[in-house]
Amino acid sequence: MDATKLRRAIARTPLAPVAAFPKRLARVARHDAKVLRTSARWLVTSREHHNYTYELTKLSRQHLAWFVSVVCDVPVQQVRAYLNEIETDEKLRGHIEHATAAASRRGLADKHVRYARRIGWYAIVRARKPGHVVETGVDKGLGSVVLAAALLRNAAEGHPGRLTSLDINPEAGYLARATPWADVVDLVIGDSVASISALDRPVDLFLHDSDHSRVHEESEFETVESKLAPGAMLLTDNVTVTNVLAEHAERTGRRFLAYRETPARHWYPGDGIGAAW
Ligand SMILES: C[S@@+](CC[C@H](N)C(=O)[O-])C[C@H]1O[C@@H](n2cnc3c(N)ncnc32)[C@H](O)[C@@H]1O
Repeated sequence: MDATKLRRAIARTPLAPVAAFPKRLARVARHDAKVLRTSARWLVTSREHHNYTYELTKLSRQHLAWFVSVVCDVPVQQVRAYLNEIETDEKLRGHIEHATAAASRRGLADKHVRYARRIGWYAIVRARKPGHVVETGVDKGLGSVVLAAALLRNAAEGHPGRLTSLDINPEAGYLARATPWADVVDLVIGDSVASISALDRPVDLFLHDSDHSRVHEESEFETVESKLAPGAMLLTDNVTVTNVLAEHAERTGRRFLAYRETPARHWYPGDGIGAAW
């Protein structure tokens, strides 16, 4: 009996899992060793302890361009130009590096500037030209300055807009306190649901990125509903964890689409962008 026939014969017997075990073990060990190598490198080279930053893989960046193209109904070439715009914004990069080096919590931040899925937020703001963006959850303010950079470019092209950034932590947002980015950002300290209730201007683009518990995410989308301008878009950073925005989209008669990012050279499996419009 030749080797192929023997393998097929064994596959029909109860011995099949035992025979396949070495090959299966080698596969999973190769995968886990790669994760361990990446994790060990990260432990030594990074200082971050939450809200990790990383680049996207080339393929993940390409899929992000198509995601933004579909949800904003703009040509993918245009979206790629927007992604390129934020990635080559040396003034913003220099500001983030400088502000990070001077920050009181610099010991827990990396010097390298890496935007991950936030380049998608940038492209969405560039594509939709919103007059009022609201972001809940600010942390250092990395997302806030990225959104502000998009609003500044929009303003230079005749489409002004402002960002309201909400965080419960009074120390949040140190990256978004310098001009010109601060000129378009209103930083509001307090619980996001209370702050959303107090908004006095219609919201064109809303991004949930604060307390990622299901209950809080639901409260934010429910509360912001009466504050939305016609045709507003809702985004969530929590799309790989809950289905809250998809359920909200279904209840309110919107379309929904999710993008899942893939970090390059990082152990973290990544987050994503959920969009309802
Ligand atoms: C994931 S971080 C935000 C990341 C940020 N958007 C970025 O792009 O890097 C979550 C933030 O939500 C804030 N937060 C948690 N609970 C909150 C609440 N109830 N209201 C407002 N902000 C809250 C935290 O203080 C933290 O800064």
